[in-house]
Order: sequence, then C-alpha cells, then structure tokens
Amino acid sequence: MIDVQHVCKSFRNFRAVWDLSFQIGKGDIFGFVGPNGAGKTTTMRMMATLLDPDYGDLIIDGVSVLDEPEYIRTIIGYMPDYIGVYEGVEIREYLEFFAAAYRIPVEKRKSLVDEIMELTDLTTVATKDVAVLSKGMRQRLCLAKTLVHDPKVLILDEPAAGLDPRARIELRLLLKELQKLGKTIIISSHILTELSDMCNSVGIIERGIMLAAGNIQDILNQRTGGPTRQQKLLLRVLGSPDQAVAILRSLPDIGGVEIDRGVIVFNFLQPIESNPGLLGELLSRGVPVVTIAPATQNLEDIFLDVTKGIIA
Ligand SMILES: Nc1ncnc2c1ncn2[C@@H]1O[C@H](COP(=O)(O)OP(=O)(O)OP(=O)(O)O)[C@@H](O)[C@H]1O
Ligand SMILES: [Mg+2]
Repeated sequence: MIDVQHVCKSFRNFRAVWDLSFQIGKGDIFGFVGPNGAGKTTTMRMMATLLDPDYGDLIIDGVSVLDEPEYIRTIIGYMPDYIGVYEGVEIREYLEFFAAAYRIPVEKRKSLVDEIMELTDLTTVATKDVAVLSKGMRQRLCLAKTLVHDPKVLILDEPAAGLDPRARIELRLLLKELQKLGKTIIISSHILTELSDMCNSVGIIERGIMLAAGNIQDILNQRTGGPTRQQKLLLRVLGSPDQAVAILRSLPDIGGVEIDRGVIVFNFLQPIESNPGLLGELLSRGVPVVTIAPATQNLEDIFLDVTKGIIA
C-alpha cells in the first residue's frame, strides 16, 4: 500500500532522512519508532505531500506523491504532531467545517459528523469549545478530523502523546476498528511498549536511517538467530545466586551468564525441548531452582539492541 523508495531529505546541509526504503502492506498498522530527531515527522510529512523529498519517491496505493499530490491528499488522512485550534468553535462545527472543506455534500455532513464523533467518542462533548478541550479530547478531535473524507491511509504522528492510560487503550481499540474497516495505518511514537500491542509491523529509525523494519516477530527472530536456535532465560534460585552462576558457567551450551537484580540471566544455545534436561542437570547439582522462564523480548529490547548496532 505504501512503498517508500530511497528517500533522502536534507535541511540545508543536515541530512534528516537518508536513503530510506520500506513497505507497508494494505491493512497493516505500522509503528514508526525512533528517538527525538530521528526523522519520523519529516518522513510522514513527505507521505502527506507537505514536503518534497530531495531524492527518491513515495508510492501510495500505486500513485507517486510527486506526480499526483492532489490525488494523494484525497486518499490519506494526516494527523500532525501539533494542531492549531480556533477559539469560539464547537467540536461539531469544527468537524462540519472540515467536511465542507472536503466538499462533502451538505445533506450528508450532519450524519457523517455524528458517525465520526461516535467512533472517536466525542458525542457527549459535541458542543464544547475546541479551545478549551483537554489534551486527550484534542487528540481525539484531531483524529476525528483526519477521518472526515474517509481516507484509505491514516498517517498519525504521535497520536498517543499525552494520553492517559485509559485513553491509550481506547486509541488502540479505535485503531483496530479502523483497521477492520480496511484502512492502512502508520503511527509514530517513541514509547515503544505503546506500539508493540497496537502494531503488526514496525520500522525503527535513527538519525534518518532505517535500522530494522518488518514484522515484530521476524525482527525478534533475526535478533536471536531464529526462533529455536537460542533462548534467553531467567533463573531464580533460593538464597545467593553465586553458586548457581558458577555451575551454569561450567555447563555446555550456556553463555552470557549475568545477575540482574538478583535474577540470573543467561543464553541457552539449545531449543526449548532441551529445557527439562537443563532443569534436571541444575537440580542434580543441588541448585535450589525456584523458577526458570524465558526472558520476554519486546520492542524495548529490540530498540536498545538495534540502536546499539546489533542488527544494523
Ligand atoms: N524545517 C526544518 N528545518 C531544519 N531542520 C529540520 C526541519 N524539519 C526537521 N528538521 C530536522 O530534521 C531532523 C529530524 O526531525 P523530525 O522532526 O523528522 O524528527 P522526529 O523523528 O519526528 O523527532 P520527534 O520524536 O522529536 O518528533 C531533526 O534534527 C530536525 O531538527
Ligand atoms: Mg516528530
């Protein structure tokens, strides 16, 4: 659905985005992750035709943003990371104004705005002045605004920034709803855990370069060298871990043994089928095992590893 091809963008002689290429499939929720200044907003503005790349192209639904920017604007909805609001305008009026701007016929506007307010949970505050909305309500209004012309592709720049935990969960559910309606969604954030349960694929960008992109599980597998070849395990023992550490280090297929806040973390270079054997070995040597469990590897881990250059 979206094909970013060798895109470069510099500001004066500063390279904000460098030879960026990645794809987003139809119906995907793609998480765009990276630290401050990584180039996320710059890339999203190029997708939204607000900024031209210096080199390369971005193809959305088979059409180049450079060749047909006006058509692209009809099929995308862009939510910027900062929105201006007008004073003395109610939520409903605000949305009806945008519906008019998108040339939605006057007789359809009211029902459309009702539908969108329902979807974004704004119905109960329809008559509130947009200038006095809380941050979360403003984010929702901004998302509502991007839905007015029923775009196929949603480009959302940090839609979860400043939302409370409940509002974040609601946003996640809303994005899933929109995905069910067949929309392709790209969403940026630096809060990685926030994306891991919202997205089915991610791209990790740093200093304008894509370090890893694709399915979250594939990136994890790439990182560990395959789903079964190596495991990262956590071992808890009764009392001091020192003796258990010494025993672990003496065993074959064990590496990287460390103690982290009283828990032993180590790599086991065997598939999961070998875990009962390992547990038996530890017990037979008198290690007072309390639990042995896989270390969960989430986006946070991937991000830290990738930005250390482990995948790149
Ligand atoms: N119009 C501009 N003029 C000059 N430099 C710019 C301009 N827009 C962006 N930059 C620079 O390009 C780099 C990438 O910025 P960008 O806004 O894309 O980062 P980001 O990943 O969105 O960061 P954040 O997480 O802080 O929003 C930054 O160093 C920024 O200062
Ligand atoms: Mg940004």
